[in-house]
Amino acid sequence: MAGRKFFVGGNWKMNGDKKSLGELIDTLNGAKVPADTEVVCGAPAIYLDFARSRLEAKVGVAAQNCYKVAKGAFTGEISPAMIKDCGVEWVILGHSERRHVFGENDELIGQKVAHALEGGLGVIACIGEKLDEREAGITEKVVFEQTKAIADNVKDWSKVVLAYEPVWAIGTGKTATPQQAQEVHDKLRQWVKANVSEAVASSVRIIYGGSVTGGTCKELASQKDVDGFLVGGASLKPEFVDIINAKA
Ligand code: G3P
Repeated sequence: MAGRKFFVGGNWKMNGDKKSLGELIDTLNGAKVPADTEVVCGAPAIYLDFARSRLEAKVGVAAQNCYKVAKGAFTGEISPAMIKDCGVEWVILGHSERRHVFGENDELIGQKVAHALEGGLGVIACIGEKLDEREAGITEKVVFEQTKAIADNVKDWSKVVLAYEPVWAIGTGKTATPQQAQEVHDKLRQWVKANVSEAVASSVRIIYGGSVTGGTCKELASQKDVDGFLVGGASLKPEFVDIINAKA
């Protein structure tokens, strides 16, 4: 961890309604958040204002996507300015569902990263290989290319968290082993050291996502280069509080 503040993100994806999310928010407001842990919940765009206005300040809020450029007023899109206008501080970009369901490529994700950072948002930037890419032995090639497309658009790394989310672990119940996660996180940190700077490599949080649960979080959190999590399904359940306290 080397002095990096532990970061636990929740990604609510396209789940919930005001009743269920209100109950989840009440649970989070009553939860213990360790002083050395940063918690941010990614709400659906339509509930960003609802979440921000009801969550206590100890829990940050993220959008799950935003548009790529300042000009234009495109139907259905949301801008960093709108996200900030709701008091929301973060945005998740490059999630595998945006990449592989909605066809967002590295170039577009890089543009979104630049635009979100210029708009004053923090960025949780997602990368990760598909199962066939891991089985073909090209995990490093894939995640390095994805990371480069992000890094080429970052000036201030203090507002960026890298989220390694192997696609084959997302929503499958097949969590990466602590050793698998540590191996890729270490390689990513070495890439940042070689291609950005030693200081950024030391300070940037690299978090893991992909079927994290209350049962798997502690061993994952004990890995030297695992600085936290980006949690999907379990972030909608009371066990998310256990994950928030994985380092406690
Ligand atoms: O962004 C986090 C998400 O992709 C992981 O989902 O359900 O495997 O924790 P899940």
